[in-house]
Parts: sequence; C-alpha cells; structure tokens
Amino acid sequence: MCGIFGGVLKTGEISPLIYDGLKRLEYRGYDSVGFATIQDGALQVKKDAGRIDDVVQRLKMDSMPGSMGIGHTRWATHGAPEMVNAHPHTDCDGNLAVIHNGVIENFMELKEELLNKGHNFKSRTDTEIIAHLIEEELKGDIALDEAVLKSLRRLEGSYAIAVVSNSDPGKILCARNESPLVIGVSEKGTYCASDVPAMLPYTNKVVYLRNGEFATLDQDGYEIKLVSDGTVVERGLEEVTWSLEMAEKQGYPHFMLKEINEQPTSLRGSLRLQPQYLDLLTTLLDRGRDIFLIAAGTSYHACIAASYMFSRLARITAFPAISSEFIEQYGSSVGVDSVILCVSQSGETYDTLKAIDHARMRAGTVLGVTNSVGSTLTRVARAYIIQQSGPEIGVAATKTFTSQLMVLAQLALRLARMRGKVSQDEGDDFREKLLQVPDVVEETLSRHRDYVKSLVEKYSGERLFVFLGRGISSSTALEARLKLLELSYVPSLAYPAGESKHGPISIIEEGVPVIFVCPRGETRKDIVGSIMEMKARGAVIISVCEEGDREIIGLSDDVIEMPKGIHEILSPIPYVVPLQLFSYYLAVRKGLDPDKPRNLAKSVTVP
Ligand code: AGP
Ligand code: GLU
Repeated sequence: MCGIFGGVLKTGEISPLIYDGLKRLEYRGYDSVGFATIQDGALQVKKDAGRIDDVVQRLKMDSMPGSMGIGHTRWATHGAPEMVNAHPHTDCDGNLAVIHNGVIENFMELKEELLNKGHNFKSRTDTEIIAHLIEEELKGDIALDEAVLKSLRRLEGSYAIAVVSNSDPGKILCARNESPLVIGVSEKGTYCASDVPAMLPYTNKVVYLRNGEFATLDQDGYEIKLVSDGTVVERGLEEVTWSLEMAEKQGYPHFMLKEINEQPTSLRGSLRLQPQYLDLLTTLLDRGRDIFLIAAGTSYHACIAASYMFSRLARITAFPAISSEFIEQYGSSVGVDSVILCVSQSGETYDTLKAIDHARMRAGTVLGVTNSVGSTLTRVARAYIIQQSGPEIGVAATKTFTSQLMVLAQLALRLARMRGKVSQDEGDDFREKLLQVPDVVEETLSRHRDYVKSLVEKYSGERLFVFLGRGISSSTALEARLKLLELSYVPSLAYPAGESKHGPISIIEEGVPVIFVCPRGETRKDIVGSIMEMKARGAVIISVCEEGDREIIGLSDDVIEMPKGIHEILSPIPYVVPLQLFSYYLAVRKGLDPDKPRNLAKSVTVP
C-alpha cells in the first residue's frame, strides 16, 4: 500500500496540494516520499527516504514550480526504503515520471527484456520497468497515452499508477488494476489519489476508477478508457458525503473494522509473492534438521497453524515456539543444522529479534515472514518473504494474521512438492483451494456481518468465554480468544478441545458460553465428543462449522455457518474472520476503542 496524489490545476502551484494530499494518506504507510512536477514543459523530480514532513521540508518540495504534478508516499514491497527506490521513477532520459502502488508480478522478465534493449535502471523496484516500457513504446512514434496503454497491457499484477511526461505536459495518465485510484474534479482542476481523503479539501465530486481502466486527466476534466482495447467508458461524478475522518477509514468507524473487511484484498496480495523468494525459503527449510517457528502473540498463533500445515502436507516436524521462551526452551539445541523461521508482522518485535540473535550466534539459518520491508527482521534474516498485507493501523492484528497463514500455507505446499509428499493432483487441488480463500472470506464477511452483531447483543453480558478447537483449529481458537481478550478485556480461555477435560472443564457451569471451531476434516468427528462433554455440564454452545453440518448444528445453541468445501488446513483463515468481528463488535458494544486497546502497543520493541 502507499499513497498517490496528483493534480492538474488551471492556475497556481500544485506542489503544496500534493504535500497536503500525501499527508492525508499517511495512514496508508510510508517510508519514502517523492514529487514530480512540470513547468514550462520541463519535468522536475525530487524524492528521498524518510517521513513526509522531514523530506518535503529538507528538499523544499512544497515549493516545486508547476501547476501540474504527482506525488507518492512509498510503502516498499520491492527494494529497501532508500532514495533510489523512492518514487517517482523516470525513464533513461528523465522525460517521464511514474508513481505506482501495487506489485508488478512479471517485472523480472520485463526488466531483463528492457536491459537487453539497453535501458538503464537505477532502482531495485518493480515500478521502474513501467517508465522504461513507456519509453520503449514511445520510440514507435506514438502518442503518450497510446504508449502508456500499450505498456499497461504487458503488466501482470496489481497497480494504481500515475504518469507525467514533458512530451504531453498538460496531462496526467493514470490506471488501475486491483490497487485503488479515485479521480476528483473541482472548478480549479482535476485530481487523482489513492483514496478520497486526499482530495476532500478540494472537492467531494469523484469518480472511482475500476479494474482494467485507464484515465487521462487535464485541467478541464477526465476521460476513461478500457486498458484492454481503448474503448471509451462514460462514467459521471458522484458526490462523497463522508467527513475527513470517516474518509480515512473509508467510511468505517474504526481501522480495525476496515482491516477486517479488507481481508479479501490483502489475501489476494499474499497470493502474489515472488516465486524466487518462496523457492529460496523452501530450499533452506528443506535443508534443516530441526525447524523452529518463532513468533509472539498473533504471529505465534500463525506458527502453531503452520506446524500443522508443515506436518500434514510436507511431513515435516516444525516446532512452534514463543519468542520470549525460545532461548530457554530450545536455545541450547540450536546449531548449524537448525532453521529458524521467524514470523513477525512488524519485523521489530524485541523478543523475536533476541531469539534471532541467539540462533545466529549458534550458526542457525534464520528465515523471516514479515509485513515490513526494511525492518530489522529483513536485515538479519538469511532470506525473507514480505507477506504483502498492506499496513495495519489497528493494534489488534487481523488482516496480517490471515496473510501470514496464506504465506505459510504456500510454503508448506512448496515443501510438500519439493519432497514429493503430495502427488501432482493433490498439490494442484490444494493450490486451487488456496486461490479460492479470498472469495470464501469475502462471502463470509457479507454473510455474517449483521448476524455476528446480533450474537454480540445476545452474549454481551457474559463474564467468561471459552474457545475450543481440534487440530489446526486450536490455533483459530487461540487467536479468537486473544482478540477477545485484547479488545474487550473479557476473561477467556482457549484450548485444544481434547485437552479441555484435563483441567479447564472445571470452569464450566450452567450458561458459560463455549465457542467451538469445527470445520469439516480429520478432526471433525472428535469434536462432537468435546461438545457433548461441555453440554453435559451446562455450557451454551456456539459453533463455527460448515453449513449444513446437521450434527454440529443440532448440538449448538447458536451457529455461524461457513461456506462448504474449505480445506481443513486452510480453514483458520476464513474461520477466524467471524470471530474477529465478534471481538470487534463486543468491544464497541462495551464502549471501548478497538483501535487502541489499553496497555498494548502495535509493535513491542522492549524486553
Ligand atoms: C496482535 O493482536 C497483538 N497486538 C500482538 O500479539 C502481536 O501479534 C505481537 O506483538 C507480535 O507482533 P509482530 O507480529 O509484529 O512480531
Ligand atoms: N512495488 C512498489 C515498490 O516497492 C510500490 C509499493 C507501494 O505500493 O508503495 O516500490
């Protein structure tokens, strides 16, 4: 994710508006900032890594001349947050500038092709290839918009882009595929931005660009075309009635709810990983004699799920360990044959970094899964994968948890294939199921939003909740319980269901709500016994199960029915979603702020 803002004014300077617009998009994440403006046909670019205010003031970017231009706050996906990788990116001769939000999947092959044609690359980003592709097309003596369209047709992946060039200095050319872009029109000019809040001070008349669309902006308005064949699309402006604060959260009252609802998109992002890095991690994991999965909090729950994935799919034993316990628990046995896969959204969690230091001292191989390019984890790991969830503002991890699971499931599948533990058909079938997960989550969200709210009304007075699941669903139960604790401060327990009779069951009395996570699969039949045990002691049963699972439904007081056909190994991704909603609505019902739970920090960088 990142922020894009651009504008073509009838009169006046655009750079102060770009600055203001990007400030309003800061919540989308930033590690670098850059502007490109055009005055008297000359393109000027300034950019650097750092916070928006610092960079803009240091480079005096808000006084760059020109009535039209574009600006970008970067949230790195390819290449470290350094000046050379900051956007805008230019072609070889500095005649055009491109900003981009998203990931170009086929950039490696395009880069190679362009390098062979003599193009000179300055950055390690995927974005820069767009500038050179357009430059290459322009050699065919065609108009700029035609060259941009032709270049767009070669891109695979997600993008919102904006392009300016001194060859057509009155225009901004933009396009979208899966990354958001909105156009706004006022009496003073035309704007484009990643999100509405950036342009709300200037206009509330907007048109949302859709996937596969391209637009040309000039001072009088816009024209939209289809990228595929250039057909003109007629679409009028709509009026936005949101306040600025609402607009930042895209109309949601809290970032957390926005992030829960963003999961279909963030999960699609997590399916778009660079294969060469997945391969590298897989090879290094395959070489390990001992594999440890290390993390804290929510990320630890992802590691627990991963231990089931690795075992079930690839027949590999991997030990999940809590970061702060790792050194005591396993530290002395770590050696040159150990592989330590660290999962950390922020890549900065103190306990996880401590565990890494220890493992490195003992010559273990450290690997990482993180959401933050340039974080400490990416610097100390031998190899790492960026999970591509986009920045998460809510303190409680939601979309980053499901993305972690998505990445770990892909690693497990690759390992299984590399080791010959799944047949070609089994592997293909699992991959198919993996690709369906974002749609399943989308369906779950639209089906259950209101229903979960009604469940919260019914159970809002409870003083204790118990969460139980078997197999990989025990990780779903643990994560659902952590969300409830963090957000609504209600005491609660989570256990693998089979373990509950070894102690926790003593807490059950008439009316205690027990939430069972019971997808179809190998653990499904055993969970029935656990439900019976709880019912016999007066518990109220709330089940998250597959739709039409008559037996479970018959035993439950309330049921959240999930779509059919989800692979058990992937079930924590969709099954946790209604439980995230449950915690969110319960916190709101109790008058608490789910974005800022008491005593918690987004990233715990202290011992
Ligand atoms: C999640 O809701 C928590 N706020 C917390 O448990 C978090 O997952 C933990 O601190 C680990 O953070 P990390 O993934 O950035 O390392
Ligand atoms: N993939 C691009 C980069 O890493 C764009 C990232 C973004 O959306 O900010 O530079």
